[in-house]
Order: sequence, then C-alpha cells, then structure tokens
Amino acid sequence: MDIPTDVPTSARLYGWYLGGKDNYEIDRKFAMMNLPDFPETVDVTRQNRLFLYRAVRHLVQKAGIRQFLDMGCGLPTNENVHQVAQRFAPESRVVYVDIDPIVLAHARALLSDDESTTIITADLRDPEAILASEEVTRLLDLSQPLAVLYLSVGHHLRDEDDPRRVLHSVIDRAAPGSHLAFTQAMADDVERGAALQARMNAAGVPWQTRSRTEIAELFEGLEPVEPGLVDVDDWRPDPDQPPLPQVDPELMPYIGATEKHKGLYEYGGVFRKPA
Ligand SMILES: C[S@@+](CC[C@H](N)C(=O)[O-])C[C@H]1O[C@@H](n2cnc3c(N)ncnc32)[C@H](O)[C@@H]1O
Repeated sequence: MDIPTDVPTSARLYGWYLGGKDNYEIDRKFAMMNLPDFPETVDVTRQNRLFLYRAVRHLVQKAGIRQFLDMGCGLPTNENVHQVAQRFAPESRVVYVDIDPIVLAHARALLSDDESTTIITADLRDPEAILASEEVTRLLDLSQPLAVLYLSVGHHLRDEDDPRRVLHSVIDRAAPGSHLAFTQAMADDVERGAALQARMNAAGVPWQTRSRTEIAELFEGLEPVEPGLVDVDDWRPDPDQPPLPQVDPELMPYIGATEKHKGLYEYGGVFRKPA
C-alpha cells in the first residue's frame, strides 16, 4: 500500500481535527498554516461528525434504514457509522468506501470480527465500479431501501466530476424510501470560499466551493427531510449525544472559534427518494 507522506490528505487532516493520531507532519504543518485564516475549521469538522451521528440515528430509528453505503468514510474514530447504526439496529449492514489507502489500513483492524461491515478502497466518482464490487453485492440489497452518505465530501467533487451524476448514481438505482445524506464545507464570504478552494487545490486536495443555490440544485428530485439543507450544527441538534475525542493541545486554541465568528461551516442535510 502506497501512503503518501509528502502531501497532506483530507482523511488525515480531518482525522486530526477529530482527535485522531493517524497523520503525518505534512498534515499537521498544513493545518497549522491554514488555521489562522480559517480558525472555524476544527469546530466545523467536529460539528460535521456530530451531525453524522444524528443523521445515522435518524435513518435507523425514524426512516427504518438497515443498510448504508458510506462514500468517503474517512479514518475510523469513535461513533463510526456501523457502530451508531448497529447500536439502534444490530442487524444493520455497512459498506465503507474511501480513496485514501490509510483508511483501509486502519478500518480493517476495527472491522476484523464484524461480518456485516466492510471497507473498500475506491473512487466515489466511479459509482458503477463500487456497485459492481463483491463487497457491495454481498452486503447490500438495492431492492430494499438503503442510505448513501456523502458527508464532508461534496467539496471534494469538482464541477468537472459532474457532481449531480455522481451523487444520484446510487440513489437512482436504489429502492423508493432510500435516503441520501450530504454535507460540504461552505463559506458565506465568496472571496474567503475562493481562498480556501485555492489553498486546498494547491496542496493537492481536490476542492470546490459552491453556493447554497448550487447545492440545492444538486438534489432536485429528492425530498428534503426536515429541516432541509442547513448549517449541519442546526440539523436536529442534540446536546446529549455522545461527545468526540479531545483534540491535541496544538489545536485547542481553535476549539470554540465558531462561537466568536462563523463564516465557514458544513452545509447539508438528508433527502428521501420518493415512491
Ligand atoms: C473530510 S473527510 C469526511 C469523512 C467522513 N465522511 C465524515 O464525514 O466524518 C472526506 C473523506 O473523503 C475521502 N474522499 C475524497 N475524495 C474521494 C473520492 N473521490 N473517492 C472516495 N473517497 C474520497 C477522503 O479520503 C476523506 O477520507
């Protein structure tokens, strides 16, 4: 397995902000260089991960979903999708997908004794290959409702990837009653969004900023679940949900930055495929 250590990666950066240890100096240096300009990043990352818990719990408890395809799943932390889903419905099945080989390396260890959950290294921009994979055909049944997750992944899809095609490819083939959850980093200030995009692309992390209207257009044809597309921190907040691991002392000064100013956030929601 080829793990690049000369460029930062999305999975390792994001994992560090969640309190993870599976990252390299290049990731930490890149993060510390950007945080003075984008101090909300640590809070916003953590708010996205807390949204993941609430969205999966909703999908299991309220929507009756028992199978998940988690596209761009990231490095394992606590409260991973299969753990949340199986806590509320032990029979839940999960296929994780990520392009970064470090994710497979760490997730395999976590999943070694779980026959209803697996992980593959694949590019979510090639959904046909993912749907045809042995892991998906073994664990997921497209004739039954499923949930496909694209969490903190939307910004990694550039316009040339045809995001509407990518995001609809699974749900279009799935049974009515299937759900899709999506989030993407967003800046209210267009110039700040463009600066973030330029910085991420220059570092080799594919990045595309979008407006709220552009994001809403991606999901035309699907029914938004209340409260629709919002700052995910406002999506059915639950002060009693399990907390995330603490961050490294180096990142502590940035915890709480969104209480002072929040121009950067994760924007998204949950959608249902109508009958
Ligand atoms: C910011 S992390 C989000 C992790 C997780 N979904 C969450 O919300 O907690 C984005 C993840 O998407 C993965 N990713 C980016 N582009 C991808 C692609 N084309 N195919 C598969 N995974 C991709 C990255 O490797 C990274 O692990």
